[in-house]
Amino acid sequence: MPGPLDRFARLSLAHLPTPLEKMPNLAASLDVADLWIKRDDCTGFALGGNKVRKLEFLMADAKAHGATAIVTAGGTQSNHVRQSAAAASRLGLRCGAVLERVRTDALYETSGNALLDHLFGAEPVFIDKDADMSAALAALADDWRAAGEVVYEVPVGGSNPLGSLGYVRAAEELATQCRELALHPGLIVLASGSAGTQAGLLVGLALVGLEVQVVGMCVSRPGPDQQAKVTALVKDICDFIDRPDLAEVIEVRCDGAYVGPGYGAPTPEMIAAVQTLARTEGIFLDPVYTGKAMAGLIDYAATGKLTGTGPIIFLHTGGTPALFVYPDVAGVE
Ligand SMILES: Cc1ncc(COP(=O)(O)O)c(C=O)c1O
Repeated sequence: MPGPLDRFARLSLAHLPTPLEKMPNLAASLDVADLWIKRDDCTGFALGGNKVRKLEFLMADAKAHGATAIVTAGGTQSNHVRQSAAAASRLGLRCGAVLERVRTDALYETSGNALLDHLFGAEPVFIDKDADMSAALAALADDWRAAGEVVYEVPVGGSNPLGSLGYVRAAEELATQCRELALHPGLIVLASGSAGTQAGLLVGLALVGLEVQVVGMCVSRPGPDQQAKVTALVKDICDFIDRPDLAEVIEVRCDGAYVGPGYGAPTPEMIAAVQTLARTEGIFLDPVYTGKAMAGLIDYAATGKLTGTGPIIFLHTGGTPALFVYPDVAGVE
């Protein structure tokens, strides 16, 4: 039977399906009955993470448009920029990257994702913190077009309706794994930033008819703002795939309680969460996204918010390279 995504071209970049595994040690330490982790940190390509799934659709589109170059944007330690740069290398395209200087110390600018961007041959354009990223991206695209390149703009975080199809597909993959394991999840927890992961997942779950609560833990903005952003993108994705009816039944939940002082700024709870996962399950989280999302999940367990939810799945969206520019997370001075 033809599926709703069949008409969208997709490249194969990720190693799929990613594992869905139990976390028995963490479950015991949190006194939670049934706790699972979906390992999208293991999508394989360029050290993995969630953006590879989005880039499978976006880079296919870039190719269809005859692009000779892509441009994209993010923070200096953006996982999205790292994975986009790798995908550009794979396709033989130039990659321009507008990078916001969230921090300016040498470690931050030369290690972790920044080091990998360099290795992939990405061409960075640095902008100051809080400068207009969209304007800088448009200016870079214009410059390269004027120089004769066919430029494809990859949106920040890969989060337009096309990129979000990566997570519509991921929901199908997860539903298949749950069916095979006879697992009936009650709650999925994930980090929510540029919104494509949460919005795509929600649309995909609705498409396959898997009824499960999804909570997006905010990493950059307050809960109500994130909820509005995800809701708008859910609607756009549903229109894009000609299923506007689905948007009516999708419930969007975001929780802004674990952002702390702001995007990329450590919190004691994030540090504790990263250390807990490493020391109970031997799994790396990251300091910017999954560490804060897991801090939320741990707090939900401690405050009784998981009582009666049924099995819980934590969606690990990757980000591990950023650990190397946050040595304090591991207690290294
Ligand atoms: C490791 C990681 N997790 C989660 C996210 C958030 O995903 P989204 O931007 O689709 O909300 C990102 C986005 O950059 C990320 O790099």
